[in-house]
Amino acid sequence: KTGDTTFDIGFANTAVCKSAITYIDGDAGVLQYRGYPIEQLAEKSTFLETSYLVLYGELPTTEQLADFTEKISRHMVIDERLRELFRIFPRKSHPMPVLSAAITALSTFSRDTIGFEPDTIEAATHQLMAKVPTLAAYSFKNSTGTPTLFPDYSLSYIENFIRMSFGTVTEPYQFDDTITRALDVLLILHADHEQNCSTSTVRLVGSSQANLYASVSAGVHALSGPLHGGANQAVLEMLKQIRDDGVTVQDYLDKVKNKSDHTKLMGFGHRIYKNYDPRAAIIKKHADAILKARGGSDQLLDIALELEEAALSDDYFVERKLYPNVDFYTGLIYQAMGFPVDMFTVLFALGRLPGWIAQWREMVADPTNKIGRPRQIYVGHTKRDYVPMNER
Ligand code: SDX
Repeated sequence: KTGDTTFDIGFANTAVCKSAITYIDGDAGVLQYRGYPIEQLAEKSTFLETSYLVLYGELPTTEQLADFTEKISRHMVIDERLRELFRIFPRKSHPMPVLSAAITALSTFSRDTIGFEPDTIEAATHQLMAKVPTLAAYSFKNSTGTPTLFPDYSLSYIENFIRMSFGTVTEPYQFDDTITRALDVLLILHADHEQNCSTSTVRLVGSSQANLYASVSAGVHALSGPLHGGANQAVLEMLKQIRDDGVTVQDYLDKVKNKSDHTKLMGFGHRIYKNYDPRAAIIKKHADAILKARGGSDQLLDIALELEEAALSDDYFVERKLYPNVDFYTGLIYQAMGFPVDMFTVLFALGRLPGWIAQWREMVADPTNKIGRPRQIYVGHTKRDYVPMNER
């Protein structure tokens, strides 16, 4: 059917699958993993314990958590030839394509964990949960040109990632517990979020029986877009642009409102949360604490707080139900931790990994629960005959 009829297309009003992992009530600002409120998990859990919950459906017993931790921490080291892979990427490579390529390459070193038998899926789950932090840290090290470090089995999951990212071979790494805990909480907050763009990508790719590594690698690319996971990087670049251009917050908001060049208020708005993103409220508290611990107020945080205050009292944003989302404050914390903006979306991917794996496992476990093949509304030419070259 052609013509200028406008159609409401896309997945927005479609339930592409059934899932028991994450529940979101966008109007009430509710987010629960397997029934547990995100606020309680952020306060009381750890990322590895929350990953267990997201993956297996229940909070682990002491023994279960110890066994899971052992399986993950013992497998963080990667094959030496896979470590060599990072050397082929230019120093200035963005770490997201490097991470996606490294996850794809990891599947070639883990061929015995590619398959759909329960034990094989469990082995691949442990491989990815264990090695993606190492690959992420090495993606970062590639950009700094400093030597990569082996994981240290005496450290926790988060401490290993931090030390492999920032540590050097010459001296022991000095941890800052505020930073370590803040990163743990940030990863908890990113662990899953039902059928967002990257998770739907993981399910769609996996629905063809592509393996878990290929599906997660595709999810990394989907996440890299600035309208999705790349927003945390775009927020920092927006705050720096406001600071460096010397414009007022109101000038910037006016530019967004007049839509002249499609400028968006990055870190604001959400497909589902039309009230507020419960994760943003938790992250904002940590941003305050971290930046104060790092030495008083931070100019970019001040701009962010001013932007939020101005937007929340501006009809343009209130009418469109635009509130801070998970990405609005995370970049400020990541920057305070010492990560460059290019690494922010890699940190999002590290947090979202258990969710991607859990959703892929849930789909594979129930052949009737597949995204399937979407249809389309055809708006192209009606049938017409081939035109010989001399008549075109
Ligand atoms: C994540 O899905 C998930 O769960 C994702 C995520 C997860 O955990 O996986 O939560 C993570 O991706 C969070 C979102 C990060 N992205 C950004 O912060 C980029 C900026 N946000 C926008 O791109 C936008 O808000 C979206 C894409 C996030 C959501 O878009 P919506 O809700 O579908 O809104 P829309 O595109 O239909 O726009 C509705 C109106 C439009 O104005 P009008 O045409 O009605 O006049 O709101 C405007 C839009 O122009 N609008 C914005 C805006 N977002 C929407 N205007 C200015 N700034 C914005 N950020």
